[in-house]
Amino acid sequence: MKILVTGGAGYIGTHTCVELLEAGHEVIVIDNLYNANEQALHNVELITGKKLQFYNGDIADETVLQRIFEEHTIDCCIHFAGLKAVGESVVKPLEYYDNNISGTLCLMRVMGKYQVKNMIFSSSAAVYGNPAFVPITEECPKGICTNPYGWTKSMIEQILMDIYRADPSWNILLLRYFNPIGAHKSGMIGENPNGIPNNLMPYITQVAAGMRDHLGIFGNDYDTPDGTCIRDYIHVMDLARGHVKALEKIQKKDGLAIYNLGTGTGCSVLDVVRNFEQATGVKIAYTFEPRRAGDIAACYCDPSKAERELGWKAECDILEMCADAWKWQQSHPNGFADVQ
Ligand code: NAD
Ligand code: UFG
Repeated sequence: MKILVTGGAGYIGTHTCVELLEAGHEVIVIDNLYNANEQALHNVELITGKKLQFYNGDIADETVLQRIFEEHTIDCCIHFAGLKAVGESVVKPLEYYDNNISGTLCLMRVMGKYQVKNMIFSSSAAVYGNPAFVPITEECPKGICTNPYGWTKSMIEQILMDIYRADPSWNILLLRYFNPIGAHKSGMIGENPNGIPNNLMPYITQVAAGMRDHLGIFGNDYDTPDGTCIRDYIHVMDLARGHVKALEKIQKKDGLAIYNLGTGTGCSVLDVVRNFEQATGVKIAYTFEPRRAGDIAACYCDPSKAERELGWKAECDILEMCADAWKWQQSHPNGFADVQ
């Protein structure tokens, strides 16, 4: 298939491009490089030995989108493009609603105009808010999001559902990711956060690399076995493979569906620290800090629907996730600014 990957130069996008190319798909990427570096796409080509086509553009720019759809017969869009920093979204809500929602509206309009009605959307466990129950199944009601970023995901899901209801010739998959971490085995692509990382794994790898003094663990008084928060960490390559499986499902043309993509295993912050130490042999200094606003105690999924209906299951364990994150950090301490 010929796939348009929006946000394809980013963290999850590049790893998915590798899997798409290796599965024999043709890949067209649109990315405005707001949170990415073109070098990442060159590395995707080096890893796979295959070419992709890159458009440096914004999904809110109808002209560039139309050019893409004129120049290519696209079969499906995998839509990663969006702003994703939870804390920043609280400070800049307008930018988040505008970029994520207006961008998606523009994309859907142009897709509809060119009769490309197959869409795979990057949603998030954030739409469950403080989940009504764990492990979270897709039947778990959506919740009250704790930040504008989460609301953009929740609202875009609603928009896509309404578009499907109005025109059931669309095929739409809403993929709710849990916590992607790790990197491609080659160490040539990985997560490249700007400034102080917000997320746990990049913070840990920077402590391990000596770039930061110690990890602050946000809260050790949660109602969990060791008092720290529990999440469902998933290897980014497993997540990438989930998108290839989602494409097979899209080809069956059976409408709209929602899938949780996680491992189903909850890991506490302390579990992650211990597994990182075991996988790498590097000690992580940490202190306990107050709880971080908006964090919930436990968030992990029941991924059995994806296994049943997509034939997909996460395979990598937390040790492998830590080892691969560390390999990327060591080979690219300054992200893609480093010489390859
Ligand atoms: P990322 O920031 O690495 O990738 C997003 C890409 O989109 C970036 O390359 C950025 O430059 C691009 N982009 C942003 N706005 C754009 C626009 N208007 N036009 C064109 N390109 C634009 O993020 P990621 O971690 O790879 O996440 C990919 C998607 O998955 C996002 O939609 C994110 O919200 C979602 N998601 C991520 C996580 C996570 O923990 N990483 C969890 C759940 C969902
Ligand atoms: N944590 C720390 N110290 C840090 C960073 C994080 O203790 O320096 C803790 C957090 O308090 C939380 C856990 O590590 O308990 C994981 O935090 P992350 O920031 O890595 O991930 P979140 O679960 O908060 O959120 C992530 C993404 C969201 C997405 C969500 C669900 O950032 O965009 O997963 O997919 F919505």
